Amino acid sequence: MRKPVIAGNWKLFKKSAEAQDLVTNILPLVKETAGVEIIIAPVFTVLGKVKDAIDGTSVMLAAQNCFWEEEGAYTGEVSPGMLRDAGCSHVIIGHSERRQYFGETDATVNKKITAALSTGLTVIFCIGETLAERESGKTFDILNSQIRDGLAGIRREDISKMIIAYEPVWAIGTGKTASNEQAQEAHSHIRAFLAGLYDHDAAETVRILYGGSVKPENIKGLMAQRDIDGALVGGASLNADSFAAIANYN
Ligand code: G3P
Repeated sequence: MRKPVIAGNWKLFKKSAEAQDLVTNILPLVKETAGVEIIIAPVFTVLGKVKDAIDGTSVMLAAQNCFWEEEGAYTGEVSPGMLRDAGCSHVIIGHSERRQYFGETDATVNKKITAALSTGLTVIFCIGETLAERESGKTFDILNSQIRDGLAGIRREDISKMIIAYEPVWAIGTGKTASNEQAQEAHSHIRAFLAGLYDHDAAETVRILYGGSVKPENIKGLMAQRDIDGALVGGASLNADSFAAIANYN
């Protein structure tokens, strides 16, 4: 049985006071959420604040990115070990916004995944096709190459510790969610591809989250799909009631 995961990606939102408010409002609402892992990914500058607020609860902390070197002359970067030091258990890597605006490639994503895993962080590895890729029938090819290149050299025992987030770029922040069937089709493809790269048992243990306009209204249908193990939530995670309603989908 794969334990469901609901993760909130706050993206570039929430300064200290707002972050403090949001997390303190979320906590009592998700307290009773049984059997669901809850993760919050705020901006770097408020990791400590959110960490203090979630201390003693089962809510976990993620960063939205990391670098692949542990230390050195790399102005502006944050290393996986520093994220651990700041209280993170998870890190999001390869989000489409990073690929789109910050030049991340499958090769740099691979370096980041390798470095993050080596420090014991659980990686939330994002993949997904653009609208043009979907419309030209390339969805599966794109997912295959993102997975194959992003996971190059990653061992079987590490893959089962990772989380994959399927986020079709056309569904992110657009209000246009993939249908349950479209999402399930992609998730089942991803799992089958992982089974080919590793083996059936490894693929069955990996949690695959859906991301892209997840809301309280569509979470139940998505979670009813065999290969959807949770959600990576953007916009709706910025509101405590919406995020809690998603986390409490059951
Ligand atoms: O990482 C979450 C994400 O990109 C989806 O964002 O706003 O469509 O839920 P949103």
